[in-house]
Amino acid sequence: MTEIPEHLLQRSRQRRAALTGEGGGDDAAPSGGDAAAAPATTGSPAPAAAAPAAPAVPEPEPEPEPTPPWVEAAESRKKVPWWAAAALSILPLFFIVYAWTLGEPTNDEGPLAVGNELYNGSAGCAGCHGGGGGGGVGPAMAGGAVVETFPEPADMITWVALGSAGYQDAGFSTYGATDKPIAGGMPGQAATLTPSEIMDVVLHERTEFGGEEFDIAVWEEGFEDKINELLPDQADEYMTVLEEWSATPPTG
Ligand code: HEC
Repeated sequence: MTEIPEHLLQRSRQRRAALTGEGGGDDAAPSGGDAAAAPATTGSPAPAAAAPAAPAVPEPEPEPEPTPPWVEAAESRKKVPWWAAAALSILPLFFIVYAWTLGEPTNDEGPLAVGNELYNGSAGCAGCHGGGGGGGVGPAMAGGAVVETFPEPADMITWVALGSAGYQDAGFSTYGATDKPIAGGMPGQAATLTPSEIMDVVLHERTEFGGEEFDIAVWEEGFEDKINELLPDQADEYMTVLEEWSATPPTG
């Protein structure tokens, strides 16, 4: 049992008097009058508990403005995540790159890719000339040899299309600019490959094994005359491919 100091009780009584409106009887007799009741204990409910009491009538809280439904909807709606802005900002770049890749022939379909597939696959050139053009039954093409034999692509095209027998039928005993004697054994491709495919495989060999960079001027050199002379039936098709390559160099 702790005794509550007189000055605290005094303050509590004054506070209560002020709240209830009763005159300050206690004020008049601060420590006198009820002296007998003064030493209250913490066990008694009244004075100590009343001490921190708030005003009896609380001030009415100002009624909050009702939030309009559209504002509420806007606030509760999911916000755009921070990374979305970053992602959106690179969108134009994405389209530029996309458009750019559309313009270039992809490596899967370009003349070089088709030529590579024909040489190593369906046309079977690699079986006689080696996977890397190193030679076998047929002569080697690597290290620039093929470009040496055929400085003009047109000359190489007619050779691949007609082969050893076709050339001999046309009255030749040699082939290429270096006048190589025809020993036989190179199968003509005109019956199995299209003009476009023959040009693709020739392009592949000159680029991969001959180390030649495509130059339309080199390809046009004597092209029309040579093709018209030895491959008259398909001359138009060969010319069409050459015109396409002139417009769009076959780099893929
Ligand atoms: C059956 C084997 C064989 C196949 C398949 C073959 N070749 Fe040949 N190739 C030869 C032979 C043999 C020669 C030499 C011909 C001669 O001396 O008459 C030759 C010569 C060549 C030459 C001349 C090379 C030089 O510098 O002397 C080229 C170019 C060529 N072939 C391209 C091709 C291409 C392209 C293919 C595939 C479409 C192909 N060959 C498929 C056997 C073959």
